[in-house]
Amino acid sequence: MGLCISLTHAVDRSNFKTCEQSSFCKKQRNVKPENSPYRALLNSLEVTEKSIRLQLINEVNKVPLLLEVYGLQGNMTRIKINELIPLKPRYEVLDVLIQDPPTVPLAIIGKDESSLELGFSNNVYKLIITSKPFRMDIMTGNELLLSINSRGLMVFEHLRQKKDSYTEKISSTFGSMWSKIKNVFISEKKEENVENEDVKEELDPGNDKTNPVEQPEDADSQNESQETEDEAGMWEETFKTHTDTKPNGPSSVGLDFSLPGFEHVYGIPEHADNLKLKTTDGGDPYRLYNLDVFQYEIFNPMALYGAVPLMLAHNIRRTLGIFWLNAAETWVDISSNTAGKTLFGKMLDYVQGANEIPQTDVRWMSESGIIDVFVLLGPSPFDVFKQYASLTGTQALPPLFAIGYHQCRWNYNDETDVQTVDAGFDEHDIPYDVIWLDIEHTDGKRYFTWDPNKFPNPKNMLQNLALKKRKMVSIVDPHIKIDSGYRIHSELQSRNLYVKTKDGNDYEGWCWPGSAGYPDFTNPEMRSWWTSLFAYDQYQGSMDNLYTWNDMNEPSVFNGPEVTMHKDSVHWGGWEHRDVHNLYAFYVQMATAEGQIQRSGGTERPFVLTRGFFAGSQRYGAVWTGDNSAEWDHLKVSLPMCLSLALTGISFCGADVGGFFKHPSPELLVRWYQAAAYQPFFRAHAHLDTPRREPWLFGEDNKQLIRAAIRQRYTLLPFWYTSFYHAYKTGEPVMRPMWVEFPGDVETFSLDDQYMLGNALLVHPVVEQNARGVQVYLPGNGQFWYDVHHHQRYTGPQNLYVPVTLSSIPVYQRGGTIVPRKERVRRSSSCTHNDPYTLYVALDAQDFAEGDLFVDDGHTFNFQKREEYLHRRFTFKNNSLIARSASAKGHFNTVAWIEQVIVLGVSKPSAVILKLSDGSESSLDFEHQAEPLVLTIRKPAVNVGAEWMLYIL
Ligand code: GLC
Repeated sequence: MGLCISLTHAVDRSNFKTCEQSSFCKKQRNVKPENSPYRALLNSLEVTEKSIRLQLINEVNKVPLLLEVYGLQGNMTRIKINELIPLKPRYEVLDVLIQDPPTVPLAIIGKDESSLELGFSNNVYKLIITSKPFRMDIMTGNELLLSINSRGLMVFEHLRQKKDSYTEKISSTFGSMWSKIKNVFISEKKEENVENEDVKEELDPGNDKTNPVEQPEDADSQNESQETEDEAGMWEETFKTHTDTKPNGPSSVGLDFSLPGFEHVYGIPEHADNLKLKTTDGGDPYRLYNLDVFQYEIFNPMALYGAVPLMLAHNIRRTLGIFWLNAAETWVDISSNTAGKTLFGKMLDYVQGANEIPQTDVRWMSESGIIDVFVLLGPSPFDVFKQYASLTGTQALPPLFAIGYHQCRWNYNDETDVQTVDAGFDEHDIPYDVIWLDIEHTDGKRYFTWDPNKFPNPKNMLQNLALKKRKMVSIVDPHIKIDSGYRIHSELQSRNLYVKTKDGNDYEGWCWPGSAGYPDFTNPEMRSWWTSLFAYDQYQGSMDNLYTWNDMNEPSVFNGPEVTMHKDSVHWGGWEHRDVHNLYAFYVQMATAEGQIQRSGGTERPFVLTRGFFAGSQRYGAVWTGDNSAEWDHLKVSLPMCLSLALTGISFCGADVGGFFKHPSPELLVRWYQAAAYQPFFRAHAHLDTPRREPWLFGEDNKQLIRAAIRQRYTLLPFWYTSFYHAYKTGEPVMRPMWVEFPGDVETFSLDDQYMLGNALLVHPVVEQNARGVQVYLPGNGQFWYDVHHHQRYTGPQNLYVPVTLSSIPVYQRGGTIVPRKERVRRSSSCTHNDPYTLYVALDAQDFAEGDLFVDDGHTFNFQKREEYLHRRFTFKNNSLIARSASAKGHFNTVAWIEQVIVLGVSKPSAVILKLSDGSESSLDFEHQAEPLVLTIRKPAVNVGAEWMLYIL
């Protein structure tokens, strides 16, 4: 945001809560590790078709909870804890899971009075539930993988009636009704199990001889006596000038997880922090609460625009995931018994035999909802990606243009400005695909409209872009100007589709247009109406090359608490904003993407950029890291920020190139382009008050460097597109931490200044000012790496000092891979459609290499619906390169052909023979360079869809 634009100040931390200022976080953090008050009533065990259920009881307040355990297909388990009979239903997240996760039967493999042992995934995994105190342990063989509530930090604040003079009467009526319901339920259970003395004892623990608490007549009077009702913040909470009325009172949930053998945890974006999560002792927990943070600071755990409550843990033997499905404000504490120990300290422990097993402890705390947690048991990183994708879906395959270069600023002022900037790219011979319009293009910040003076002929403008096969993106934010003359507003009002205040009026807040309403995107009816607004006859002036940018969807409310919506405002179904906060942006992007699909009659793939996000947002488009600054550290942090997103399913991530606030030095701008050319979403953007920064405004030399970086991006588009296809198919990230590819190499576990693209390219961008060199870690025992620019070969593992100049972008192709490129320079990605390919074959120590290529029309769903695609596999072994289909399915006609094959690391052949599927053979021209070893084979001139083979003799 930027209501009051100051280009010098950093974040005003006082606008955002610390854990101390968030009553549930403070309260939960005050619960110290101890014996948990929760007990599992093992004899209440019920085995249903899909799950096992049993009751938990809080021995202090006697409130019964229901525990459900599911075995899920693909090595996962789901654990749900809710109140057995809540005063009113508690929110359970909708629409994030792509299906009801398929279950596998849980086998009861052991049971005694104190524990229950369940087996799943063919009993490879065991889940042991201990009754008193309640805890769960997941094991494989004799190895303990994860313990739950082993530190006794579980919290489940039951819903209750407020006891004050005003509500006393109602509350006592409800209270006794509640006790009656509970007593009826408990006596029914007793009758069911009347034969079983143990059950009687368990359901009526007041009779427990070892627990001489008298069972009161009215269970609620016990609650009152044992729980403080007057704790500050329980029924009302004030932050700065805002009071949250908390009509449902306290409702938080929390649970601890211990991970023996793990020292590295990752994920839970969005934070401007390192890839490896830090311990939070002595500071604030990582916070997940979608917020518009003005001029955010980096390297800290403060909440940012989006939230994915998925954490990954990794060690040399396995990777695990914990997915905490809760959309309320959430805090995550991390501690470790090895934190703070130096390598020397650890070695000393080892030498002295002090072999304490390293362990990471994690604690999740959410303000409302239920406990619904998925444990993803891997064991490999790719298994975890697959498991998570089976729950929340995979990355949508972007249209090809969307992975090209995007030119944005706040704002391109008018149609002439757009035309001039567009022409500038041609004049300076720089490829680009999309020009963007920010909020000033609208008629007074009324989205879906155009400023009549500055953009009188939008269709004409869009048509001019279409002639060059280019696109435009316009911004559509989810706050709607309150203006009776604005059709969108009056319809929302008359259809009753705005979010409501606690008193039932339409919620109003301040945002770009001034006073604004907030459509209730959690309401399916609202979403389908929003979807219809993208029809060409609704969004006047739009065309099929106009796509969408959803900003401010945390939602941002300039005059709201923490710059967002009041938690006691009310959504569809009567849910409080508190319950659904982190889902708002997810739904905005969902409805917008759906709108684009619908306007094309279901044929075209959408492109929607969002600032806010949640688990599952990968299904709807791209995410960017919001309002960063033109500072070197912001460039640096863009890597771990996107890597964390990638680990949690969202591959299509980028940061504003150049930095949003402030003006970058030419050196910083050049370095930023170079880094971003190798990040998934590649868009330059700048604040309204910054000087113009089109690539040609920084002198000829810098222009050439920027152009070179953008061109490198374009040559690699076939590789990017294929990597996105893999992300779409399997959930594996496009941009990935080094450890994902080298899971057994601890050296890689904390690296976040370099990363892999797919399995093939290692990127180590230069992100230091005045850099003379960078230290690149090339992992893998005997692994070859080839510098992509000079083809020099290196053998891993090694720390390589690479001297750099301003033109250097250190990128290495891994031996054993084949990378497809298109090397013709064009105006935009669509212009490359029929262009020929060059295959870069990088041999490993066994003279082997393999890679693939995905080709389709680049913009429709035909690859899905009609199997109109080519998926080619290229394999180099025994001195032959074989091209064949990677799948039995798929067909696509293209004229694109193979122009060159470049083999890195091969000795000089005497001849190169091409053999076609009809058996015909021909000899090809080639050139060989001895130092470094590079064989360039010219013009196989075979269609990219054909079967063929090259022999190197
Ligand atoms: C927000 C966005 C920024 C945009 C501005 C105006 O600050 O993060 O990218 O330019 O709003 O719409």
